[in-house]
Amino acid sequence: MNETVIECRDVETAFLKSLHRPILNQVNCQIRRGEFVALLGLNGAGKSTLLRSFVGLTQVSRGTITVDNIPMASTTLPKIRRNVGMLFQGGGLIRQLSAVENVLCGRLGVRKPWQTLFGFPKQDYRLALQLLDELGLHEHAYQKTSSLSGGQQQRVAIARALIQSPQVLLADEPITGLDVMAAKQVMDTLAKLNSEHGITIVTVLHDLGIAAEYAQRALVLDAGRIVYDGACHNLQSEFAQIGSLSK
Ligand SMILES: Nc1ncnc2c1ncn2[C@@H]1O[C@H](COP(=O)(O)OP(=O)(O)O)[C@@H](O)[C@H]1O
Ligand SMILES: [Mg+2]
Repeated sequence: MNETVIECRDVETAFLKSLHRPILNQVNCQIRRGEFVALLGLNGAGKSTLLRSFVGLTQVSRGTITVDNIPMASTTLPKIRRNVGMLFQGGGLIRQLSAVENVLCGRLGVRKPWQTLFGFPKQDYRLALQLLDELGLHEHAYQKTSSLSGGQQQRVAIARALIQSPQVLLADEPITGLDVMAAKQVMDTLAKLNSEHGITIVTVLHDLGIAAEYAQRALVLDAGRIVYDGACHNLQSEFAQIGSLSK
């Protein structure tokens, strides 16, 4: 059995009056090193909240989350972010900056402000360009991200997360809104990071077929609770049940 990198024990987050319950409700799960996990669920189920809680961006009101056996409460955000990279829903790139500048933004948590006063160190530039090259974006390094296609932007966001050399990459709906080919390129990139670089991947997906094709394991959230944790086959019948639960 692989070692656990992220563990949630009885996690609850803020109680929402509009929902008459906490956003996340008694969530228990483990993410093991080297896994490729699909996080699934209907809109509003709590998927983004769960991913954000893995990097300390959402406060937990009850229970504990540990990353590498270190409780979230006893560490700092920059330390977590060095271990756990995140691709935000919609990419979260700065549209007016070039691809390479966006990738360099991933170093802001590591470099002291004075170190970037006159630009980033040369080795950071080299690394950013190398990552863009690896992700097939060499020709677009100096292009404003607003003029890149959705799939290219998503790969820039991946490079920005990778410049921290994270052990775990969390991706929130990385292929939503992309055409089939661009979605395949992004998913293949995540698969390569997982198989060749050993990076643990947890990604929110909506397509059950893609989840079954790429992920070894699925976590399904419904109304803030984990209702399925297991292999990706049988997902269709799991979702049929969730659909009827949520009505
Ligand atoms: N900061 C917040 N303030 C109020 N409600 C929130 C906040 N974050 C999330 N929610 C609510 O919590 C629920 C789960 O949200 P989210 O985690 O974004 O779901 P998902 O990503 O599965 O669509 C939704 O009903 C959403 O409206
Ligand atoms: Mg979401």
